[in-house]
Amino acid sequence: MIKISPSLLAADFSKLGKEVSDMYDAGAQWMHIDVMDGHFVPNISLGPVVVKCIRPSCDIFFDVHLMISDPDKYAPVFAKSGADLITFHLEAVDDPMKTIETIRYTGKKVGISIKPKTPAEAVFPYLPFVDLVLIMTVEPGFGGQKFMADMMPKLLSVKKECIRLGLDPDIEVDGGIDVETAKQAVENGANVLVAGSSLYSKSDYKKAVSELIASAESVNVSFR
Ligand code: DX5
Ligand code: ZN
Repeated sequence: MIKISPSLLAADFSKLGKEVSDMYDAGAQWMHIDVMDGHFVPNISLGPVVVKCIRPSCDIFFDVHLMISDPDKYAPVFAKSGADLITFHLEAVDDPMKTIETIRYTGKKVGISIKPKTPAEAVFPYLPFVDLVLIMTVEPGFGGQKFMADMMPKLLSVKKECIRLGLDPDIEVDGGIDVETAKQAVENGANVLVAGSSLYSKSDYKKAVSELIASAESVNVSFR
């Protein structure tokens, strides 16, 4: 099943709680929350206190994307603040299994992400231990960038390796996703679509979410 995860980074920060519940009412199943520390990526976004503040707004699934240098230290804090899934970057840590176990211990779902320059094979050893793999389709750090279509072979090779291993984690793409690029991503194995600017820039969220789902579901894929 296709899941839409609007990226809160593109929302109006003066009314975050409403921006979250409006997307939930519009039919988005997940909310993508980008956490940046100004160190792993050259930008600073939001911290656990914000996650805690928006948690009561609705029951949407909180998909927390940690673009930070020390996920082992902060994952438990985000878990307490209301995250449902915590994704860390493979490039940020020396011992990915330790981070996976740290997140697992909080009782939340575990995601692992790779940046554009990191090869697919780098995540293969961890596939049996995670709930989600996030393939970045832009350089992490900022919203509103152009979708990197050259990430599609990498996405497909992760999907194929999951099938080969008999695993079925969620496979998420993040960066430059709109009604057109979503189709390419789904064709190549993605089932969770993060979309920031292409959704929050629209005045009618319900129409925007429905159109994105319809576009993604129009693609014929044997492995869905
Ligand atoms: C980039 C973030 C993305 C970003 C996506 O570092 O991880 O989640 O908000 O924004 P759009 O959809 O505008 O590319
Ligand atoms: Zn993200």
